[in-house]
Amino acid sequence: MQNNIFRILALGDIVGKAGLAALKAGLPQLKKRVGADITVVNGENASEPNGLNVEDARLIFASGADIITGGNHTLRHKDMLAFLDETRSVLRPANYPPLCPGRGCAVATCASGLRVLVVNVMGQVFMQQCDNPFVCAQTLLNEAAGSYDIAVCDIHAEATSEKQAFALAFDGRFAAVFGTHTHVPTADAQILPGGTGYITDLGMCGVRRGTVLGVEKEAIIKRFTTGVSDRFERAQAGEAVLDCALFEYDAARKICVSATQMTEII
Ligand SMILES: [Fe+2]
Repeated sequence: MQNNIFRILALGDIVGKAGLAALKAGLPQLKKRVGADITVVNGENASEPNGLNVEDARLIFASGADIITGGNHTLRHKDMLAFLDETRSVLRPANYPPLCPGRGCAVATCASGLRVLVVNVMGQVFMQQCDNPFVCAQTLLNEAAGSYDIAVCDIHAEATSEKQAFALAFDGRFAAVFGTHTHVPTADAQILPGGTGYITDLGMCGVRRGTVLGVEKEAIIKRFTTGVSDRFERAQAGEAVLDCALFEYDAARKICVSATQMTEII
């Protein structure tokens, strides 16, 4: 942290091996260039055929992530279930059923000593069943009061309206709210009236060009065209992107002062 400015770097969904390779190749330099104090990466699509396994979680940490957030595919791999209980740095949505392994928030203490509460919730619109994310986040923030200095949130959701409403409902309580899940970065990075940095969706890390959300196009076009489903294959070759956003938080004024969407070409 320099001049009271705390920098939060958040990266969109890692998609498969190409996304993992791009992260390994690009994240260390990116963190250095922007002066990131904390780096949050959504990892719920990193492993094959989706979800996140322990080996790939370790790769994401080795690339420079401080916290890995999740979403609707987080529980896909069986080895992750015990790992979610063992590590505090891999999150699944907090509004999953109460008996679900793992947890939906964690406090990361940064080099400056600032304690950052990272919250991960999932939307309810066009998503699988989960508890109300608004109520869940409200409860988490209240319960964690005193244990953190600033809070940020990854809302993993399909509907733009749900993500915008969520961010406005917590405007001023989170330093930054960033959406994930759609794999398409939005052009609405902004500071909300109460001082929260916000973007509706961070985008993705992986091969975008010529793919559908990082997946090879043929099987998806076939499904839309004929109704016949083939296995979806993630794109392995081609130019990869790291979609992310940088939020600069003024610790003295207690507001976010900049929110910038960025795409790194790897
Ligand atoms: Fe998702």
